[in-house]
Parts: sequence; structure tokens; C-alpha cells
Amino acid sequence: MKATVNVNGRVSDADHAVIPVFDHGFLYGEGIYETLRTYNGRPFLFDRHLARLRASAGMLRLEVPLSDAELAGRVDETIRAAGLGADAAGGPRDAYIRILVTRGVGDLTYDLSACPTPSVVVIIKPFPVTPAALFEQGVRVALVSVLRNHPGSLNPLIKSNNLLNNALAMQEAYRRGAFEGVMRNYRGELAECTQSNLFIVRDGAALTPSLESGLLAGITRQFLFEVGREAGIDVRGEVLREADLLGADEAFLTSTTREVLPIVQVDDHPIGTGRPGPVSKRLLAAFRQKADALTLGPAMPSPR
Ligand SMILES: Cc1ncc(COP(=O)(O)O)c(C=O)c1O
Repeated sequence: MKATVNVNGRVSDADHAVIPVFDHGFLYGEGIYETLRTYNGRPFLFDRHLARLRASAGMLRLEVPLSDAELAGRVDETIRAAGLGADAAGGPRDAYIRILVTRGVGDLTYDLSACPTPSVVVIIKPFPVTPAALFEQGVRVALVSVLRNHPGSLNPLIKSNNLLNNALAMQEAYRRGAFEGVMRNYRGELAECTQSNLFIVRDGAALTPSLESGLLAGITRQFLFEVGREAGIDVRGEVLREADLLGADEAFLTSTTREVLPIVQVDDHPIGTGRPGPVSKRLLAAFRQKADALTLGPAMPSPR
């Protein structure tokens, strides 16, 4: 595996990056994370990701032991050590960035006082570019049987390292030969995909399940509300059900790594014409344009 990892300030390659087995992140899945990426070698929407990281940590009563500036410093340093980023030799090379904070090392008890020092890990890899053909042809998803966690049990708003719900749902999607799995909530409403948010297009408007349906408040999902407003496309949250998806004119998924990726089939059922539709294409183009505008040139908003 080619990755550069920063564990509590120590940078190494993937093989030499270690966390003790008594870290409660390993023992109990107690931790939170963010997945980010760079465009033009610069972290994209960094401040929003850090805000969500802190919100997730708060819901676990987990203290993030670094300031935003210190976290930005760790990310910058690790990107540089990986030979990626804006200053990479031969021009900007984009990075995949994962920031994790776990409860830290402690005895076998849920008592918070057992773990005085949270662990902070940054993983950097070359950004895995989604092939252009997938954007041009669209992907097939499966409506999986695994339900999204009940918000009163493990709130999907927490971007938690405890990913068993997502892993089991995605493994069902893999068994069914699908690119992604669409999950419903305990009421049967559409919630989100296992690693991305879901949108449908109906009568020219892009609709996504509202947060009340129990899902992660995706940074890309939120950004798309702004992209849509500027592009003159109505983008909004609503309660959606299976029939809304199957009867949609278009559908797509959004995430930091997949951007705006058209869905053309749900199990054996084609969506709309079975080809990526015009609203999805316009939103993808407008999204990329805005991502470029925010990461090119000297006026980039700095996280520090
Ligand atoms: C469950 C889930 N929903 C949605 C998303 C998309 O979120 P974002 O746009 O912030 O990457 C992710 C991303 O990893 C996810 O894991």
C-alpha cells in the first residue's frame, strides 16, 4: 500500500505507521474521521471538514487535541512528505487526505478517564481519480437490505471510525455487483449511500433526503446547494422514498472523492433514459468550476 502516514506527529510510510492495540479506536471503534482531497494541490473546503470533525468529536465527548492551525500543519507536512500537493516536483499533484482522531490508549473500560490522550492520525495517498468513463456512462447502484443506523442508536451525523453499518451495506452491494449501495432508514425512507449522499432529479430540481431521514451531512451535498443556487438549479432536501428514486428523471451520488457521479441504474431498473442526464451534467460541471475557483490563484481561503 502506498501511503504516507502521520501518527501523533511522527511521519512514516504505511508499513511503519502503528497504533497500539489498546487504543480504544481499535478496541471499541471509538473515533471520528474526515476524508478530504486537494484540487490543484490545495486542500478543498478544509475549514468545513474541520468543523464537521469537531462536531463529530463533540458527539463522542472526544477532545480534538490540536487547533485548526496545528491540524493544517500536520496535513501540509504529510502531503509534502508524500511528494504531493501544490509544491510537488513537476507541478501540483492531488492528494487523498484522511484525518482520524481516536479515544487513545487506555485499559479495557468504557470510562473516559482511562484514555487521557487522543490519537491523531493523518493518512495521505495520491488521489485515486475516478475514471472519466464512469462520469460519462454513470454507475449502477443496489438498494440494499441493511438499514442505516437509527439516529437514536448511532447517529449517522457522526462521521465515526465505527463503520460496520456502512461496511455491511457496501459488502451486500458488492455481492450484487453494484458500484454503491443505497440505504433506507428504519421508517423505510431513503437515507444515503454507504460512502456518499444520494440525489434524484425530478422536474428539473435536484432533491436529496433531508437530514431528518438520518444521514451524514455530506460536505459535497451541502456545497451542491450553493453550486445549484449559482447555476439556477433548485437543489433541496426532502423526504424521499424508493418510488421517488425508481421514478426519477435522473439520479446521482455525491462525495468528496466521487464529486457528482451519475446513477443510471438501480438494481435492474434503469433511471430515466438510462444515461446521465442534463441536470446531473450541469451540476458536475458547475461543481468542478467552483472547486477550481476556490483552489486556484493566490486568493485561496486559508484554513489558518
Ligand atoms: C455515509 C456517507 N455519506 C456521505 C458521504 C459524503 O460526504 P462528503 O461529501 O463529506 O465526502 C460519505 C463520505 O465518506 C459517507 O461516508
